[in-house]
Amino acid sequence: MVLDSAGVRLRPITQADRHTWRRVRQANAGWLGPWDATAPASSGAQPRSFAAMVRAMRREARAGRQLPFVIELDGRFVGQLTVSNVLRGSAQFASVGYWVDEAYAGRGIVTRAVAMAVDHCFGPVGLHRVEVAIRPENHASLRVVEKLGFAQVGLAPRYLHIDGEWRDHRLFALTQEDVPGGLLAQLEQRRAEGAGDRSSQQSQE
Ligand SMILES: CC(C)(COP(=O)(O)OP(=O)(O)OC[C@H]1O[C@@H](n2cnc3c(N)ncnc32)[C@H](O)[C@@H]1OP(=O)(O)O)[C@@H](O)C(=O)NCCC(=O)NCCS
Repeated sequence: MVLDSAGVRLRPITQADRHTWRRVRQANAGWLGPWDATAPASSGAQPRSFAAMVRAMRREARAGRQLPFVIELDGRFVGQLTVSNVLRGSAQFASVGYWVDEAYAGRGIVTRAVAMAVDHCFGPVGLHRVEVAIRPENHASLRVVEKLGFAQVGLAPRYLHIDGEWRDHRLFALTQEDVPGGLLAQLEQRRAEGAGDRSSQQSQE
């Protein structure tokens, strides 16, 4: 499944991404470190190669539990967005995680990518709720969910093992009923209204 919007593309991660992925991750080690998931000692997990990571992601995808996307801008690998923990039955929800190359931060790429992924989840995938868990210190990521209108639904102490420790997280969610016309359309509309406000302010100056 490939999703496209305004130069931002979400497509499944593949083994062919290994060289680019390694290069971008190495260049961004300091930028991503404070927000990267780590394995607690109790998990017994060993550091995994890129090949093993992609094999595991694609296995999860085939089982319907994950949608592991690469984010591209104009055909260039710039980050990842993963829909994980897909739960069916009476839950019909999933979590979304993401990162972008620091060189491409601040262009609205991930905000757009999350909107695209949420619309896909609420549309063809048929989910009802999408969650994002964010450390309270992560101002950039908090802005992503704020701009998309996610509601904070909880505070989870020591929720995930990030950067070597169990970290508190703020939990945000959107349900299908929150975005009847689609999240991307809502984002575009908010931007258009914002641009309108700015131009009308300028014209009054
Ligand atoms: C969080 C993150 C994915 C946002 O991606 P993005 O494509 O830059 O998103 P946006 O362009 O919509 O910017 C979101 C906010 O980031 C902040 N930001 C913008 N440029 C930035 C930069 N160069 N450096 C740091 N923060 C920046 C701004 O607060 C911005 O909000 P604004 O649009 O109101 O100014 C990105 O900062 C990132 O990959 N961070 C490291 C990994 C991470 O935190 N992942 C999420 C874990 S929950």
